[in-house]
Amino acid sequence: MKTKKVLILPGDGIGREVCDAALPVLTALNLPIELEYGDIGWECWKKEGDTVPQDTWDKIARSDAVLLGAITSKGKKQAEKELPEHLQGTGHKFVSPVIQLRQKLGLFANVRPSYYISGQGKPFNMAVIRENTEGLYAGFDYHGIPEQIQSLLSHPNIDKSGFDNSAITLRLQTKFGLTRLFKFAFEYAVKHGHKRVTFADKPNVMRDSGAFAEEVLDSVAANYPEIEYDIQNVDAMALWLATRPEQFGVIVAENMFGDILSDLAGGVMGGLGLAPSANYGEGTAYFEPVHGSAPSMYGKNKANPSAMFLSIALMLDYLGFEDAAEKIRVAVQETIRKSKNLTYDFGGDASTSELAAQIIDNIENNKQQLSAAIITVGDELLAGEYHNTNLKEISEFLQDKGYHVAEHLVCSDQKSMINRAVNKYVGAVDLLVVSGGLGPTSDDVTRYAVASALSLPVEFNEQSWQHICNRMSSFKLEVCDKDKVQAYFPQGATTIANSAGIAQGFTLTRHNTEVLVLPGPPKEMSAVLNKAFENRQSNRIAQHSKHQWKLLGVTETQINVLIEKLAPAIAKQVKYIWRYPYLNVSVNCDDSQPEVIEQLQAVTNSLEAFTVSRNGLNASQMIEATEALCWKSDDVQLEELLQQLPGNGIGPTYYVNTIPAISDVLSTGSFDGTLEIHVQAPDGEPRVLAIPLRDEYVTEYVKEFASWCYLTSES
Ligand code: NAI
Ligand code: MG
Repeated sequence: MKTKKVLILPGDGIGREVCDAALPVLTALNLPIELEYGDIGWECWKKEGDTVPQDTWDKIARSDAVLLGAITSKGKKQAEKELPEHLQGTGHKFVSPVIQLRQKLGLFANVRPSYYISGQGKPFNMAVIRENTEGLYAGFDYHGIPEQIQSLLSHPNIDKSGFDNSAITLRLQTKFGLTRLFKFAFEYAVKHGHKRVTFADKPNVMRDSGAFAEEVLDSVAANYPEIEYDIQNVDAMALWLATRPEQFGVIVAENMFGDILSDLAGGVMGGLGLAPSANYGEGTAYFEPVHGSAPSMYGKNKANPSAMFLSIALMLDYLGFEDAAEKIRVAVQETIRKSKNLTYDFGGDASTSELAAQIIDNIENNKQQLSAAIITVGDELLAGEYHNTNLKEISEFLQDKGYHVAEHLVCSDQKSMINRAVNKYVGAVDLLVVSGGLGPTSDDVTRYAVASALSLPVEFNEQSWQHICNRMSSFKLEVCDKDKVQAYFPQGATTIANSAGIAQGFTLTRHNTEVLVLPGPPKEMSAVLNKAFENRQSNRIAQHSKHQWKLLGVTETQINVLIEKLAPAIAKQVKYIWRYPYLNVSVNCDDSQPEVIEQLQAVTNSLEAFTVSRNGLNASQMIEATEALCWKSDDVQLEELLQQLPGNGIGPTYYVNTIPAISDVLSTGSFDGTLEIHVQAPDGEPRVLAIPLRDEYVTEYVKEFASWCYLTSES
């Protein structure tokens, strides 16, 4: 493919930071793109009284596309004050570079795609297309009503104020402007697979211009019979965008209505840190994040670079690199869904460059762990009547298959609750497992709830019904009509055999989430879960493995500090769990990288002195009951406790004593200060450990420490 020329205009403030952070993605994607840099924005105004210098126009003329960071604009007075001295008072006028670009380059369509990235609510995919050259921002804006139009205007408030004390803005709509706008909107819908074009206007109030626009819309739409189109009042549109974005495709509007709706769409998408935009015309196009220069954030390496990444993706689409564009979108989405550390606007403390590096790493390695969520359904589980063993088993199973289980949700049998729970995860995780509520009774509503959450009808599956009838008669059970509900599945679902019962499970994928639905009875759940995973390969996560250290005699803070120092590549994934008296430290990570292997080794070495095991076993669990070994103490009560430990009582003797004595501690019940544990092996030095004397369970500590001394003694 021919090399494309892209002009980068970083502009002001965080525009510079997000450009610096995101542009290396072009290198990672290895695209035939040549970059040139140019100046634009406030600094140019301060230097030469023009926000877009001639040199930049020359560069634009020889580029295939322009990528803009952000620019700073300030009010009239401030702009005048910051002009170079020789230009002050000469009537120099500040014109926003964004407006200059749009006007001089004839960029009539501003496109703001807005689609689901993460969070609650149904996945959606829409784009607001705003007319950029006419409408209410056409520039017919007057304070003091011009003589030429005064005769047209009769209004009681003008009578009271007079023409000089009134202001007016005119909305311009032309056949030329509307035709090219609507054509662009339908073409955009075709190209991006949107099935619906909605024109947001106010025809019930602006009746003549509204009717005129409708006429133009009808004539353009006639050429696109496969695309549904409608006109909605802009105010209602705002409500729908906020509450039901999944119902829309392309939303097209005149300049001001489009301006407002496109910001709203940016908010629906997740805010300024995410929202990208593009400006298209007959010739060139330019791309920029929706956000501005955010001066208060500049220099802090804090801004979210995602909007810039997504703007780059739009540019790559335009230049014909659609695959690369899609890779960027997927990487941004995956990173935001799965990263443990995002920028501040997503509640994290990652810097601009850290988040950008994660996104680029995702593109280069594409092996982030798959994520899963589990919903278990049943009022009896919520009431605590039963242990939720399914939840535990599914978690362990998925963990074993390499999934990162991100969330559990226990949900009542109510259809609306299950529906809401399913909605929460569809589009947000790779796999959603739902268990319970597939039976024939009236409290079994999971299949309907899942179907409704995915906006699918339920369909009767004859094959499945035959299967149910056969199973029931083989169990000598009478088949009744009520059983039939178990043969209904959401449209498109694949059924999964249940070798331990009757109701089959099912699976289907929507919005990149596989929804796997299992029966509730534990044996049946297990059977269907295993069946679902038969012949399935977990690919992307093959390199993830678990490393663990069972530690005695240290605090989590000590270990945390050490791991952060020795193993920065994995430190954020490390988990610290107290299983008194042990501290279990574990990490699930991709250990195929030399850097990670090295850091894991460094951690292992430095924890050696505290590590009792690497496989999760306690010291006392590692001693055989028959081992030739005898426990003794000067403290009768302690000696009794030690008899609970394995050992045949006739081998070499280990003396265990504490200061203060365990019998004194237990009889006085005074838990304060420290407990010194002394263990003397038959030969060798005595070993001593001091622990906080916190409660009667220190006896567990004594037993585990004694066992560990035995396991590690020379004799
Ligand atoms: P802004 O978009 O620069 O910032 C508003 C707030 O949004 C920031 O304080 C920050 O809290 C948040 N924000 C913006 N970008 C973010 C990111 N990437 N990550 C995380 N949070 C982010 O809008 P503001 O403050 O109204 O304007 C600042 C300057 O930018 C003004 O001079 C304005 O004229 C200019 N501007 C330029 C635009 C452009 O270049 N097309 C568009 C909007 C404003
Ligand atoms: Mg705006």
